[in-house]
Amino acid sequence: MTFQKTLNNSLVRYMELIPGTSAFIDARTPGSHLKDNFCIIGAGVAENSKQHVHIRETAGFNIGAAGQPPGIKNSLHSHNSAELFIIFKGEFRFYWGNEGQYDTVLSPGDVISIPTNLFRGFEVVGRDYGFMFSVLGGDDSGGGVVWHPEVLSQSEGHGLYLKSDGSLVDTLAGDPVPESSELMPKLTDEEMENFDQYSVEQMQPFVVAKSNYRPVVSSFNSLNENPDYQEYALTGSPLAQDDFQVKSEDKVSIFAYELNNRAGLPTHSRKEKQVLINYSGDTLVKVNNGLEQGQILMTPGDVFSIPEGTAISLENQRGESLVYSILSSDQPVKPELQSGKKDLKLG
Ligand SMILES: [Fe+2]
Repeated sequence: MTFQKTLNNSLVRYMELIPGTSAFIDARTPGSHLKDNFCIIGAGVAENSKQHVHIRETAGFNIGAAGQPPGIKNSLHSHNSAELFIIFKGEFRFYWGNEGQYDTVLSPGDVISIPTNLFRGFEVVGRDYGFMFSVLGGDDSGGGVVWHPEVLSQSEGHGLYLKSDGSLVDTLAGDPVPESSELMPKLTDEEMENFDQYSVEQMQPFVVAKSNYRPVVSSFNSLNENPDYQEYALTGSPLAQDDFQVKSEDKVSIFAYELNNRAGLPTHSRKEKQVLINYSGDTLVKVNNGLEQGQILMTPGDVFSIPEGTAISLENQRGESLVYSILSSDQPVKPELQSGKKDLKLG
């Protein structure tokens, strides 16, 4: 396979995303239907084995997405691994707690890291279809979703069954009805008491609104001098050398780069696995593996899993580029700048 083909296979275009409409047990419960679920990198926590997965190979984390019209709920559930969201389109109301009694509304560009062991759900408010990217910590996403008992009760009678191994049975798609002994047991009142409750105030440190992005000293040397460049350290461990705005031990970190008027990042490599999400503008990513070079032009909503062992540069081509970089560690080391010019052939 040519190097450029490898790069093309590591890119998922927003326009080419294939949704699953019955990824989870609540997919046919009235008020929770009409949802699109996307597995972009890794199978995430989708319960339906027929869900399309764009890139199977995980990056130490999974990237998915949720898309839904206003008024449709993604029901209360909890995760055993980190779950972060980057809002891309529309307004999302997140609600959390054992009764979903707390909430906040997030807008495009806002980022939230939801603590584990906490029931959470979300719906789109306003008039427009909402779309957001999700980042799930770990290659196996912590083993799946834990549903609120009421979600399992309300799913009954709609042809979907969740087995205790986490797999979904769809009798409308021809699967046989499972025995009740095979089904996922509902959490008891006692088990429910073990889940955490966060007030709205306690959740604030886990949210960074786009309007509150705070520029940091750049990891790329002299770029701070460039008025067309801003770097943001959005989420990562409190123990990291970077001063992340959301301090959370998610086993991933998220940076954002704002690039205007053809500003860019110089060629560099990372120790961690890296995925780029292009939020806005057109951004040219040049990639080399030391021998060959190729490139990808990212447009809004595109996701690019950077092949391991490569170095990349970024350059704004059109509009205002805002690019998220998701790394496979919450304590990332600084990028290594590639010095000197190597004789690279275009692959
Ligand atoms: Fe979730």
